[in-house]
Amino acid sequence: MTHSSITDYHANLLKLPVEKGVIQTEIEGWLQPIEAHYLYECAYNSANILELGPYHGLSTSIIAKAKFDSGNRGTITTVDVFQNNIDITKNNIQKIAPEVKISYNVNDAINFCILQNEAPMPIFYDMIFVDANHSYEWMKLLTNKVQLLSDGKILFHDYYHRSTGVKQAVEELIGPATKKIGSIGVYE
Ligand SMILES: C[S@@+](CC[C@H](N)C(=O)[O-])C[C@H]1O[C@@H](n2cnc3c(N)ncnc32)[C@H](O)[C@@H]1O
Repeated sequence: MTHSSITDYHANLLKLPVEKGVIQTEIEGWLQPIEAHYLYECAYNSANILELGPYHGLSTSIIAKAKFDSGNRGTITTVDVFQNNIDITKNNIQKIAPEVKISYNVNDAINFCILQNEAPMPIFYDMIFVDANHSYEWMKLLTNKVQLLSDGKILFHDYYHRSTGVKQAVEELIGPATKKIGSIGVYE
C-alpha cells in the first residue's frame, strides 16, 4: 500500500529507522511509522488539537511540525500527569518547532477533561490523540469525559494492542472504531 504525503517531512516519517516496530528518533517514544504519518496528516488538517499523554514529545513534535507546515493556526494542548515528562516535551519542542505555541498541562487527563467540560467557554477539539493510561477502567472514565470535548476525530493509541483495555472500554461506550491505523483506533 502506498501512502500519499503532504510534505517531505511527512513522507520521511515512513522512512525513519525502526526497532521492534517503533520509530527511533532523538525523542524516545512508541509510534509506528504509519501511525506517525497519520498523526501528521490529521494534525495538518485540524485547527484545535488535544493530546493526552505526550511522554517525551515524539507525538507532540509530529503534531507541532504539521501545525507549523499548515500555517500555524489553531491551538495545541497537551496533558501529562508527570511534570518531568512535560519539561522534557517542552525542551524537545523548543528544538524542533520553536515557533509553535503549545499549552502544556500537568494533570491527570480525566481531571483535565472534567475541568474543560466545566469551563464557561469550553474548547472543542477537532483532533484528540489519546495515549495515556491504557487500562480498561481508566479508559472507560476517560472516554466518557473526552468525547464531550470532541468536534471531529478521536484517535486512541494502542487500541488494537491485546494487552490493553482500550478497545473494550471505548467500544462499550461509543461502538467500533471507524478506521484502523497501526495500533490506533480512529473515530470520526
Ligand atoms: C505511552 S506514553 C505516550 C507516548 C507518546 N505519545 C509517544 O509519542 O510516544 C504514555 C504517557 O501518558 C502519561 N500518562 C499516564 N497516565 C496518565 C494520566 N492519568 N493522565 C495523563 N497522562 C498520563 C505518561 O506519563 C506517559 O507520558
